[in-house]
Amino acid sequence: MRMILMGPPGAGKGTQAPRIKEKYGCCHLATGDMLRAQVAKKTSLGREAKKIMDAGGLVNDEIMVNMIRSEIESNPECKNGFILDGFPRTVTQAEKLDSMLSSHQQKLQHAIELQIDDQLLVSRITGRLIHPASGRSYHKIFSPPKQSMTDDLTGEPLIQRSDDNEETLRKRLGTYHEQTSPVVAYYQRTGIWKPVDASQEPGQVWQSLLKCFDGKS
Ligand code: AP5
Ligand code: ZN
Repeated sequence: MRMILMGPPGAGKGTQAPRIKEKYGCCHLATGDMLRAQVAKKTSLGREAKKIMDAGGLVNDEIMVNMIRSEIESNPECKNGFILDGFPRTVTQAEKLDSMLSSHQQKLQHAIELQIDDQLLVSRITGRLIHPASGRSYHKIFSPPKQSMTDDLTGEPLIQRSDDNEETLRKRLGTYHEQTSPVVAYYQRTGIWKPVDASQEPGQVWQSLLKCFDGKS
């Protein structure tokens, strides 16, 4: 499986990707999680990225393309394919991804767009809790952890992302509509784009995704 999962902040990319990973045995490459790992390690990239992420902007294309390239080319988990979550976010990133894959005689099989109205995203984003080490996400109301504020698998504390507030969300949505919508249009011109209604509950979104993979949607 080689696929892209697109959609605005809170659409459910990070919620659905682990299910796809489990079913198809491919790796889940989430560029937001990779950047947050750099922030946690306090690297110079992490320090720069934090400012951009908290302002709702986008990190430089070249940095992001190189980050994805090195994972696809050298992460052994990517041998069975990959789910790209949060990448590509600009048309330049999409073009560079295509040329990187074609240099390995590979092609994307699916570009799935999780579609949802902006107004439904505020409650999803402001209620989200994450387990920083794994990227697992929960929701205070829609998907609460078994024990308050702790990860179900490790018992470690859950936190809120620093960009998960209403003001930064507005900026992230603006960036999505301005810079990432053209990426959706880019894949609509290919035969691999499919839309999924992401306003449904997570189990129904999963069923819709399975139909896309089976060619039944
Ligand atoms: P990133 O981490 O990718 O953030 P994002 O795109 O804004 O997406 P989110 O992670 O907020 O949403 P999601 O769709 O994963 O939602 P989730 O499943 O968690 O990127 C962060 C930043 O990094 C960017 O702003 C940018 O600055 C930078 N960056 C990253 N990639 C880059 C790139 N390629 N180029 C340049 N810069 C880049 O769900 C959200 C909540 O809703 C959860 O609490 C969940 O439990 C709940 N939920 C999920 N599905 C449902 C449902 N169906 N019903 C009810 N609740 C649900
Ligand atoms: Zn995410």
